[in-house]
Amino acid sequence: MKNQPIGIFDSGVGGLTLAQSVRQILPGESIIYFGDTAHLPYGDKSAGAIQYYSRKITEFLLGHGAKVILVACNSASASAFDVLKEEYRDRTEIIDVIGPVVDYLCTRDYAKVGVIGTKRTIESGSYESRIKAKSPGTDVFSLATPLLVPMIEEGFVFDDISNAIIRTYLSRGSFADIQALVLACTHYPIRKNQISKIFDFGIEIIDSGKPVSAILKEYLETNILLNDSGKKDDRFFVSDYTPYFEKVARMFFDGEINLKKADIWK
Ligand code: DGL
Repeated sequence: MKNQPIGIFDSGVGGLTLAQSVRQILPGESIIYFGDTAHLPYGDKSAGAIQYYSRKITEFLLGHGAKVILVACNSASASAFDVLKEEYRDRTEIIDVIGPVVDYLCTRDYAKVGVIGTKRTIESGSYESRIKAKSPGTDVFSLATPLLVPMIEEGFVFDDISNAIIRTYLSRGSFADIQALVLACTHYPIRKNQISKIFDFGIEIIDSGKPVSAILKEYLETNILLNDSGKKDDRFFVSDYTPYFEKVARMFFDGEINLKKADIWK
C-alpha cells in the first residue's frame, strides 16, 4: 500500500496548485490526479451535484490504487468532505483543504480575517463556521470572488483588467482591518503576490498548499505509508479533454504533465 499513489481531485486543473505543493513537500511520492473538467466549475453547482461527482471520482481514484484521497477543490471540500469522510471511513483516509487551513489559522490568534472563494465555498459558510468553532473571538469576513477563476485561466496578471477586478473585490471596507486573508480556491495561489500587493504586503495571505501538504505528510509518516520504493509514476486524468485544459494545467504545475481523458461519466 505504501508505494501506491496519493489521489488528488479537483473540479478541473486548478487543483494542480495543491499537487505542486505536495510534490515539493513529498518529492518521493507518486500522484494520481483527477480533474473533473466535464463538470467545472463546481463553484456554481449545488452541494448535491458536487457530492455525486466527488463519490464517483473517489471510486475512480481508489480503483487506481490511491492510498489516500486529497480533496483539492475548496468547493468540494465545503460540500462533499463530510459525506465522503463518513462513507469511506473503512476504506481510506480523506483529507480536505479547509480543516488544515482553519487549524493553521487558529494558531495565529488573529482578531479579524478575510476569506475569498467561489460562490459555493462562501455560501456554504464552511470556513466561517469552522473558524468560529475553534476561535470564537476571531471576526471573519467572507466574499465570493467568482471573476478570479476565469481571469486567472485567461492569463491576466498585473495588468489593468486583473488589477481592477482584484482591487474592486478587495477594497471593500470590511477587508480594511483584516490581519490575514484565506485564498479559499485552487486558482488563487498563483496570484498571491498580486493579491498581497492590494494590502501593501502587510497581512498574511494563506493558501492551502503548506498546511494541507504538512497534514498529508504527517498522516503518511504516522501510518508508515511513505513511498520507499525509490520509484514514482505520476498520472493526470481529466473527464473532458481540450488543448486549453492542457495549457492551463501547465500554468499550475511545473513538472512534466500529460492529461489523459478518463470518461468516468458514461
Ligand atoms: N476548484 C474550485 C475551488 O477550489 C474552483 C474552480 C471551480 O469553481 O470549479 O473551489
